Amino acid sequence: MDLQQAIRSRRAVRAFTAQPVDRAVLLRLIDAAIQAPSAVNEQPWFFTVIEDPAALRRISTASKAHVLATPPRAVSSTHLQMLRDPQFDIFYHAPALIVISSVTANEWAVENCTLAAENLMLAACAEGLGSCWIGFAQTWLGTAAGKAALGVPPSYLPVAPIIVGHPQSMPPAVPRKPPEIRWIGT
Ligand SMILES: Cc1cc2nc3c(=O)[nH]c(=O)nc-3n(C[C@H](O)[C@H](O)[C@H](O)COP(=O)(O)O)c2cc1C
Repeated sequence: MDLQQAIRSRRAVRAFTAQPVDRAVLLRLIDAAIQAPSAVNEQPWFFTVIEDPAALRRISTASKAHVLATPPRAVSSTHLQMLRDPQFDIFYHAPALIVISSVTANEWAVENCTLAAENLMLAACAEGLGSCWIGFAQTWLGTAAGKAALGVPPSYLPVAPIIVGHPQSMPPAVPRKPPEIRWIGT
């Protein structure tokens, strides 16, 4: 798959088969992630890969409670309603969750890890896998309990929780708004 094709065919996938993702493939995704640029070439990323369904269920439950207690501004009432459903799994039963954390919580921690995350999601698409950034997990993963669940020290900053799996089907493209552009030139 060439780059343009990967950029245009990557979708947020929310339904997966039960098939696990081979560790060799997960390692290739992580290898793509670490090719991202980073400020002052810090390469501050740390990867936690969670494949244990019980651990994923625990994180989903804790994250839902955390979002409901402190809803982010961008979360709508429809989303909150969804999170109140005890059966709703924020990870959509994906076989793997990769959380990219920054080992340094400095000014560029979020940018560095986000660039790595996009590489990882494009690489997943090129491998025929589905992925989705799960923002609902972010705030709880940033708590002391969340960091403990990830096996990272308190000084790390979890940034990008990305689920990965074999898609049940590819969702249709979400239409893009036309870009707003101001040209400043001669
Ligand atoms: C920072 C961020 C947080 C997101 N959080 C969630 C989430 O918690 N749950 C979810 O189902 N999708 C989540 N998404 C996926 C977006 O909803 C999705 O990317 C968007 O609808 C566009 O669809 P596309 O990725 O297929 O183009 C998130 C995406 C980003 C970038």
